[in-house]
Amino acid sequence: MHILNKEIILPNGSKIINRIAKSAMSENLSNKNNQPTSILINLYKKWALSGSGLLITGNIMIDSSAIGEPRNVIVENRDNFKLLKEWADTVKNTETHLWAQINHPGRQAMEQINTVLKAPSAVPLKYGGRKKTSPKIPLELKENEIVDIIESFAKTSLILKEAGFTGIQIHGAHGYLVSQFLSPDSNIRKDKWGGSLENRARFVVEIYREIRKKVGSKFPIGIKLNSTDFQKGGFSEEESMEVVKILSKEGIDLIEISGGTYEVPAMMGKKMKSTKKREAYFLDYIKKARKITATPLLLTGGFRTSAGMEAAIASNDLDIVGIARPFAVFPNLVNDLISKKQLNFATNIKKTGVKGIDGSMNIIWYEAQLKRLGLGKDPNLKLNPWFVFFKYALLIIKHKIRKK
Ligand SMILES: Cc1cc2nc3c(=O)[nH]c(=O)nc-3n(C[C@H](O)[C@H](O)[C@H](O)COP(=O)(O)O)c2cc1C
Repeated sequence: MHILNKEIILPNGSKIINRIAKSAMSENLSNKNNQPTSILINLYKKWALSGSGLLITGNIMIDSSAIGEPRNVIVENRDNFKLLKEWADTVKNTETHLWAQINHPGRQAMEQINTVLKAPSAVPLKYGGRKKTSPKIPLELKENEIVDIIESFAKTSLILKEAGFTGIQIHGAHGYLVSQFLSPDSNIRKDKWGGSLENRARFVVEIYREIRKKVGSKFPIGIKLNSTDFQKGGFSEEESMEVVKILSKEGIDLIEISGGTYEVPAMMGKKMKSTKKREAYFLDYIKKARKITATPLLLTGGFRTSAGMEAAIASNDLDIVGIARPFAVFPNLVNDLISKKQLNFATNIKKTGVKGIDGSMNIIWYEAQLKRLGLGKDPNLKLNPWFVFFKYALLIIKHKIRKK
């Protein structure tokens, strides 16, 4: 039997049929009212047949006043329940799990389309080697707002469970709100939500507990967590390990490891070397994490070859291989991998040659491929990056005009 084709049972009893997960990719495929569209649903119909044991949705926003991208799906209430059910139903006659990733972007909400940014502290984002700070300074969240956000995470989770999603993943990585609370660089609060690691972790622990209360003990809850922020003074590897211990003790079912933020996008390979011998970015971390927790571990970032994935699972340092970008251009990825039809899933994207624009290509070029899949088209590895860039800019302008 193929080593990647072995099932795994999570602590809550859920069965994942193999060792490959599609990690979250923000699809940016809602309609202008942030409801799921038929394009989004078609995309998941396609992925439901990819052979993947676990599909994790792109980040779903829990609060309409804080959105990451203009076409993110927002789930604040039951208004779109029928559409959410259609989305969840895409895996209905398969053995594939479909987990909803839920997120609040905090100060990383897209500046162009959000009127105010809110964060643990009034600390703006820094870009470009920390030389430039974002012009929008976030407002420090008040205590009652923090409690409301925790409640929103739980409320959104219950709606998604009732719609038929088979698990929830809390987005605790990449510099979004949960990760902002964890980092002493972005969280300089003096109350019970800041200071010691125990205080900074209170936000994510409370979110987990509130979700658990709502969805019950049998429903899987996972988290995507940074191995580190890759910043001096930020969330360190040692602190991340402590959070792994805390959440494991709380009873979380699956911990996905990634790293970096908008300031240092290590999750996309920035500062990380993916070599032939060591394909995945955060292997050193996962080796250490394995020793301190019995909770199943999912590792994402850099996996491209069958050999790299097989070696990772054979090492027993992790339980599930997470893959994102290759799924955008190889939608039948897991079937092709396990049948050995295809062994390499490298995605060499085209670049414009303009540094500022090419950084965003790591997201928007792939999102354009997701849209093609949802429209029933084949992926296009030669898709022109300038075309992608102008289309995205137009989308933001349209969104801004509509909000005025
Ligand atoms: C288009 C795109 C959108 C993404 N959106 C999300 C997201 O919504 N949530 C998340 O946790 N990670 C997101 N990521 C990061 C991926 O899940 C993953 O961590 C990263 O791409 C590295 O994995 P890879 O090398 O297999 O692509 C996104 C990546 C891409 C390419």
